[in-house]
Amino acid sequence: MCGIVGYVGNKEVTPVLINGLKKLEYRGYDSAGIAVFGADSKEIVVRKAKGALKFLEEKITKEVIKESQGIHLGIGHTRWATHGEPSDLNAHPHTNESGSIVVVHNGIVENYAKLKSYLQAKGVVFRSQTDTEVIAHLINYFYESTKDIFKAVLETLHRLEGSYALGVLCKDYPDRLIAARKESPLIVGLGNGENLIASDVPAVLEYTRDVYFLNQKEVAVLYTDHVDLFTEDGDKVVREPYHVDWDLSSAEKGGYAHFMLKEIHEQPKALTDTLRPRLVHENGKATDIKFDEFDFGDEWKNAERVVITACGTAYHAGVVGKYAFEKFARIPVEVDVASEFRYRNPILKKNDIFIVISQSGETADTLAALRLAKAAGAKVIAITNCVGSTVSREADEVIYTWAGPEIAVASTKAYTTQLMCLYLLALKMGQIRGELKKDEYEKLLAQIEMIPQKAQEIMENQAEIQKFASQQFNKSKIFYIGRQFDSATSLESALKLKEVSYMHCEAFSAGELKHGPIALVDKDTLVIAIATEPELYEKLASNIVEVKSRGAVTMAITLDKQGAFKESCNTVITLPECEPALASMISVIPAQLFAYYCSVQRGNDPDKPRNLAKSVTVE
Ligand code: AGP
Ligand code: GLU
Repeated sequence: MCGIVGYVGNKEVTPVLINGLKKLEYRGYDSAGIAVFGADSKEIVVRKAKGALKFLEEKITKEVIKESQGIHLGIGHTRWATHGEPSDLNAHPHTNESGSIVVVHNGIVENYAKLKSYLQAKGVVFRSQTDTEVIAHLINYFYESTKDIFKAVLETLHRLEGSYALGVLCKDYPDRLIAARKESPLIVGLGNGENLIASDVPAVLEYTRDVYFLNQKEVAVLYTDHVDLFTEDGDKVVREPYHVDWDLSSAEKGGYAHFMLKEIHEQPKALTDTLRPRLVHENGKATDIKFDEFDFGDEWKNAERVVITACGTAYHAGVVGKYAFEKFARIPVEVDVASEFRYRNPILKKNDIFIVISQSGETADTLAALRLAKAAGAKVIAITNCVGSTVSREADEVIYTWAGPEIAVASTKAYTTQLMCLYLLALKMGQIRGELKKDEYEKLLAQIEMIPQKAQEIMENQAEIQKFASQQFNKSKIFYIGRQFDSATSLESALKLKEVSYMHCEAFSAGELKHGPIALVDKDTLVIAIATEPELYEKLASNIVEVKSRGAVTMAITLDKQGAFKESCNTVITLPECEPALASMISVIPAQLFAYYCSVQRGNDPDKPRNLAKSVTVE
């Protein structure tokens, strides 16, 4: 999920790798490492260090790597841990037992546990807690029988489930670097007498502008003077390189104008990464939910209440979670913002399931709430995006959102992946408590499996939302309204707009409008209704008519296809068909895009909104 660099050529390779990794720092990471062919090309030297790149650099300054005199060859990695805490040991590169095969990997090997047991049964000794290490041992396993590194890599790839961008070195091949990708990005840079791999264009721009964007399941073999491309079946692929003409800063954003837009677009993949390792399939059909990180013990079955605490966007995820737990598991849920929770002497009971949600895992108030709950004897489950964060270390159980690093201050992909985790917990809890019968449960699993694809389809509405933003970005008052799940989505939609556009925006449960807020409505008001619950369409449409007749401009973001909002709304954004109870994971996306485009129209920097910090580590 973070960064890979690799180089074969005539320059000293260590500085090339460090330089390249620096260009990928924007992707976020928790540790780094390199592997380089040493003097006489007889051995591969590995150096790695937890934390910032400067710690790796310090190591290299202390223990200088004597490089080979001929071809310079090496790979480097910045890690965003998924399996195993951030540490020197778990940092990449990883090797087979003898150190003759060296691997860097971005992504997740979903079936690593099975592969690991298989290899352990054959006597292989593992050193780290990572899923990645299995790749190095597996390549070695096949190399022993094939004596051909290329074949051994292909055999290995055929057995990996999940996502990978890979760089592989083998001591017996001091002239080449093998790379492969599935899901995780990887490019090949074609230089003059040198070739490179990298997770992203910025890392190679200093050396070349001609690149191959590796396709799904493509393998590249790089030598100093040429690069061969193959399918994973070993068939040769021939195509023209792409000439990059963007500048460095837009290259870091993968061609998007801002990180926020890039991260909005990354949601289908982030949702897939968060969902897929947790779904159990039988005969191609999703039949159950499991979390590698923990077991659903009796406390889930016998719980009397769920208590959720978080801040900001993560708190809004908790509000959606409340509806999900109550709907699917029929268990009472209390949600509170952490800064309130910590000071109200909360009543916690032994049979409570206590959940904290935090993208960064470092938010001061959330941490204080977590500590308070632990001191009261509650079992604390954390949902976080950052392996090794304080929240992940202090909670009893951790569930990771595999959103990858979120750079923009305004949270987007972290939010939808938090929702994914909460839905999975709620569905599983519903099943173990007997609230969801097998049929119903499996039907919902089939539906949840389609969510990433639905999220992708929404991106097609982007131009329409951009146009609407270009007409509305000067409104002085904006209200988001909704009912049930949609009232929770309204809260998050309003926060997004406030954060990046600085427009005054509030969210109301639609039924509350006439209890006060409607007094504010006039022709300078925009009201956006989120409507994904068919049985409430009519009621919501009446609310919209009330504001429209007072001069407001209106928009609906809805699953409806029958025209329930045609009359009452100036613009209707129709969401792709999906199970209404799961729609919160997609209905927020048009609102994220609307916030983004309003921000840009108003000349703001959506990635760095004024007065805000990505991680609020003080009270
Ligand atoms: C989201 O857009 C915000 N910038 C903010 O509300 C954030 O969600 C909040 O500070 C909590 O952060 P955390 O998830 O890292 O704990
Ligand atoms: N899953 C691997 C690990 O935890 C790779 C993570 C990454 O993409 O950086 O080490």
